[in-house]
Amino acid sequence: MGKDVIVACDFASAGKTLEFLDKFGSARPFVKIGMELYYAEGPEIVRKIKERGHKIFLDLKLHDIPNTVKKAMAVLSRLDVDMTNLHAGGGVEMMKYAIEGLTRPDGTRPMLIAVTMLTSISQEVMSGELGIGGELPNTVIRYAKNAASAGLDGVVCSPLEARVVHEACGAGFVTVTPGVRFADGDAGDQKRVMTPAEARKIGSDYIVVGRPITAAADPEEAYLRCVREFVG
Ligand code: C5P
Repeated sequence: MGKDVIVACDFASAGKTLEFLDKFGSARPFVKIGMELYYAEGPEIVRKIKERGHKIFLDLKLHDIPNTVKKAMAVLSRLDVDMTNLHAGGGVEMMKYAIEGLTRPDGTRPMLIAVTMLTSISQEVMSGELGIGGELPNTVIRYAKNAASAGLDGVVCSPLEARVVHEACGAGFVTVTPGVRFADGDAGDQKRVMTPAEARKIGSDYIVVGRPITAAADPEEAYLRCVREFVG
C-alpha cells in the first residue's frame, strides 16, 4: 500500500480552489473535495481538478438505503474519482451495495473508505443520545470490522486509532487519518494531533492535511515537507 499525503481543499468555490492549486509548480497532490465545495460547484469541479492531473478523494460520506447508495456510487465511479467514502453506520448491506455501485464494467473501482464514529461524537452522546452501548473505541473497531467484512478498503480514523484498526482488520486495511500538524505548527481546532512523522510511525496509510498546507505562505513547500516527513 503506497503511503500518500492528501490535501484537504476546504474552499467554498471553484475559483478559490483553482487559485490554490495554481500555487503548485510540478507537484500534483492527491486532493480531498468535501461536501461544501461539491455542493457549491457540482461534478464539474471534480472534472476540472482531474484534468489538472490530481488524484481525488471525494469526501461525501454517503448514508442511505442500500439501493440509493449503490446508484449514487455508480455516478461517482463514472466521475473517475480515486477514493470516496460512506458512513459505516449504514450497515454491512449498504456497504456491499456501495461496492457493487462503484465497480466499473472492467472490474476496477475507486477505493472505498468508511467513516466509523464521527470524532465529534463523544462517549456521552453515543451512549446517552444515540443509545449505543459499550465503550466508544469498541464501536469504532466494530464498525471498522463491519467495513472490512463488506469488502471496503479501509476507514477514516484518528492516527491514534490506526494501530488498533490494523490489528483488528489486517495490515492491508487502509487507515486515512486527519488531525496532522507540523511539530512547530498551530493545532487550531484539532484536539488530538500528530506530526506526519508520528503518523507514519504509527502506521497511517494516508494523512489528510488541510490548513497546515492551505494556509501556508508557500503551500507547495508545506506539502513537500509533509511528503518528506510522512513518506520519507
Ligand atoms: O485543516 P485540517 O488539517 O484540520 O483539515 C482536516 C480535514 O480532515 C478537514 O477536511 C476535516 O473536515 C477532515 N476531518 C477531520 N477529522 C475527522 C474527519 C475529517 O479533521 N474526524
